Amino acid sequence: MPKLTVENVGEFEVEAGKRLVLALTDDAHIDQLHACGGAGRCTTCRVEFIDGEPDQMTVVEKNLLAARELSGCRLSCQILCDQDMSVRAISRLEGSGRADAGHTPKPEIEPQPVEWVDK
Ligand code: FES
Repeated sequence: MPKLTVENVGEFEVEAGKRLVLALTDDAHIDQLHACGGAGRCTTCRVEFIDGEPDQMTVVEKNLLAARELSGCRLSCQILCDQDMSVRAISRLEGSGRADAGHTPKPEIEPQPVEWVDK
């Protein structure tokens, strides 16, 4: 099982292929934002990678990061835990002023079908 390390939180064994956003909420139990429910529309699920950043990304992630002119971060709803990863959780409910973190993302990446490209 891949190991997920969340800076200042801990290390967690994660089911292979699990969405990173769900590993952050269900395994690491942090208040990770996912305002659009993991649909690849909002960017609030962003994390910074310390180690183990995937070489590939979904077309949705690539286009959204470019449209918002975001760099140095990745969208956890568009990433699967298929290797050891170490991340910094930079987008949390606490201090965000939001009422909640967003509705629970589905087990599979949205939107479907998923198209992968090099990052
Ligand atoms: S939860 Fe909205 S883009 Fe990831």
